Amino acid sequence: MVPTRELALQTSQICIEVSKYIGARVMVTTGGTSLKDDIMRIYENVHIIIATPGRILDLMEKNVTQMDRCNMLILDEADKLLSQDFKGMLDKVISYLPKERQILLYSATFPLTVEQFMRKYLKGPYEINLMDELTLKGVTQYYAFVQERQKVHCLNTLFSKLQINQSIIFCNSTQRVELLAKKITELGYSCYYIHAKMSQQHRNRVFHDFRAGLCRNLVCSDLFTRGIDIQAVNVVINFDFPKMAETYLHRIGRSGRFGHLGIAINLITYDDRFALHRIEQELGTEIKPIPKVIDKSLYVSEFQLEDDVENVSK
Ligand SMILES: *[C@@H]1O[C@H](CO)[C@@H](O)[C@H](O)[C@H]1NC(C)=O
Ligand SMILES: *[C@@H]1O[C@H](CO)[C@@H](O)[C@H](O)[C@H]1NC(C)=O
Ligand SMILES: *[C@@H]1O[C@H](CO)[C@@H](O)[C@H](O)[C@H]1NC(C)=O
Repeated sequence: MVPTRELALQTSQICIEVSKYIGARVMVTTGGTSLKDDIMRIYENVHIIIATPGRILDLMEKNVTQMDRCNMLILDEADKLLSQDFKGMLDKVISYLPKERQILLYSATFPLTVEQFMRKYLKGPYEINLMDELTLKGVTQYYAFVQERQKVHCLNTLFSKLQINQSIIFCNSTQRVELLAKKITELGYSCYYIHAKMSQQHRNRVFHDFRAGLCRNLVCSDLFTRGIDIQAVNVVINFDFPKMAETYLHRIGRSGRFGHLGIAINLITYDDRFALHRIEQELGTEIKPIPKVIDKSLYVSEFQLEDDVENVSK
């Protein structure tokens, strides 16, 4: 179970790759697609379903799914799935499962809702904490102090100075995403945008094309933050600084995954100054003032490769 359609697609791609070798049949089902098609597919034997909560519940309630042999439930981004956004849906899903089942929760944060859920459903669970490993490792974080009206100019300067392979730029609203994407295009840089108010089909296409490297920059709202992992992204820019540490972590965590290096640049206005310090403290991380020149070895991977070779020869 995953909270967004994009994540469902990404996870299913990997799952399909891996399951080739064990002959498992994988199905992905999310809102915004034909329910009828899903029902047809589910009648063939399926071993693994990757789903968003709304659609799978729908199938369960229609008695389409036969859950009595489904003995494993995995919640990815559990903190999100157990948040108000999916109020009570997971309780319902679990009510369809057999008594003897295993539940696995994966989460970057550990809020009270996750703890309560654990106490309610998990018997003698193992807890594994890899947060020190994950999170912001490999990502060098900077801030630039700017006025609101200087932001686009500042972004233009960053584009001209940085060696961007692919970048993701975050804004705080749908309108600002569209406006900024327009500005960036006018500045002469290639740019896509994605936000929650676009049709699912459109979102999928943008996501797919960006992933395939058809465009260098992507402007988006927080729709896009969770668990999305595009290794070619080496620069993340918070055009609008987030208010919550959790949002920050999900946005920035992106570029540093799997040892890939990246930088994060935060445009900070006077109004953001307290949020900056608070988030730094909450995450126990350092966000440094942006230097005149950013060392390429921090985020450009040819350098990373050279380093590796050097280490090997040593
Ligand atoms: C699904 O099955 C249950 C139990 O067999 C039954 O009570 C319920 O009415 C069925 N729902 C639908 C929509 O067919
Ligand atoms: C988004 O950022 C702009 C500029 O900093 C600000 O004026 C606006 O109030 C913010 N909107 C939200 C929803 O936080
Ligand atoms: C740079 O991005 C392209 C796609 O845009 C990708 O194919 C390539 O692997 C990326 N390079 C690195 C070093 O990540």
